[in-house]
Amino acid sequence: MREIADKVFWIGKVDDRKVPFHRLVLEKGTSYNAYLIRDEKTALIDTVDMLYGKEFTDNLGKEMDLLTLDFIVINHTEPDHSGALGSLIRKAQNAKVVCTAFAVYELMEMYKIDKERFLVVRTGDTLNLGTKTLSFHETPFLHTEETMVTYLEEEKMLFTCDIFSTHIADNDRLLVSELEDEDSILEDFKVYYKLIMDPHRRYVLPMIDVVKKLDIRTIATSHGYILDQNVEKYMGIYEEAALQSKENVKALILYNTMSGNTKKMARILENELTEQGFIVESINTEKAELEEVLTKIQYADGILFGTSTKYADIPGNLEAILKELKELEVEGKPAAAFGSYGWSGEAVEVVQDYLVGAGMKALRSSDVIKSTGMSDISFPLRVRFNPENSTNEIKAAASVFADAIRF
Ligand SMILES: Cc1cc2nc3c(=O)[nH]c(=O)nc-3n(C[C@H](O)[C@H](O)[C@H](O)COP(=O)(O)O)c2cc1C
Ligand SMILES: [Fe+2]
Ligand SMILES: [Fe+2]
Repeated sequence: MREIADKVFWIGKVDDRKVPFHRLVLEKGTSYNAYLIRDEKTALIDTVDMLYGKEFTDNLGKEMDLLTLDFIVINHTEPDHSGALGSLIRKAQNAKVVCTAFAVYELMEMYKIDKERFLVVRTGDTLNLGTKTLSFHETPFLHTEETMVTYLEEEKMLFTCDIFSTHIADNDRLLVSELEDEDSILEDFKVYYKLIMDPHRRYVLPMIDVVKKLDIRTIATSHGYILDQNVEKYMGIYEEAALQSKENVKALILYNTMSGNTKKMARILENELTEQGFIVESINTEKAELEEVLTKIQYADGILFGTSTKYADIPGNLEAILKELKELEVEGKPAAAFGSYGWSGEAVEVVQDYLVGAGMKALRSSDVIKSTGMSDISFPLRVRFNPENSTNEIKAAASVFADAIRF
């Protein structure tokens, strides 16, 4: 434990292994920063990786009577931060888990926690700890749906979990102000943005709007250094990157085709999106490498998946790509299914199921009707055989998709 502000303690774990992480290895290691606020009430902000969950709970138990822990704030459910909940929740029997509504189900399932143990918060809600006050602010899809940040008013400290983090293990220093050259972390800070945040870049500017309304002196991250000075610089890096992406919105069209009909649809979509000023790449999945396609999916702002139907199924290798979606950072990313068919057209519906299953924002007719009032465009977008008589309908669908990816 180390006191970093009045009544605020760092209680984390430095992980100086080469840490396996999603599809990568973190060569410089990382850390999992959790924080304990010991006011009249006691609140823990996030925990550590599951691997160190028991160790964390034991350590915390040496510092305090766990039965006196009042709140466990979970900003983000991924197990590199919520990992100690399983052991902690059983010992800290009086603690409530404070999180967004989206987090409840996941945490209940992951750690077998009763529903009564949760205190669900929404943007603007506050929690009085005695002399200190926490407020909560949702930052969806940075980088998963349930994410929020927690603000400690009296210390002007923002607990951001993954946001503004850096994957670096440093056993000696915790604060960026302790570095000889603060800017030595900038490259790693930007690499982290690229890896974790950039696939969700459309959510970055809304998040910046949220945090700009707060008076922040310290950004208490959950990986790497605590940013205890020049916070505007770090926020500026995110804002600038997101603004640049806004100027260069990328649409990706992936399709398969047996006799060229779905390809024709792809061309019409491509032309319309290009005319609307987007950067569009169109790929026949039969002619591309899986890994290459997966990378392009990560960095696209929105993806159109096209397929015809062959014996009630998806022909070719598109399904192999769809199966990988869950492993990618695509939650909340706009997508749509389209394709030519003959009589039943099952394949596009199967594609739609994959998109929804991976948490993508898949366009659906009902949403389009509700948001635009247009009832003549349907998603998934299906055309019988040759699409030449459906050009206008396809162009109109491209426009709806354009609105979904513009940010
Ligand atoms: C071998 C074969 C099987 C097909 N099976 C189906 C099917 O089960 N359901 C359907 O709606 N259309 C089926 N079709 C029709 C195609 O989906 C339709 O011709 C479509 O326009 C082909 O588009 P493509 O040229 O992009 O592949 C089949 C076509 C072929 C050649
Ligand atoms: Fe995460
Ligand atoms: Fe993380």
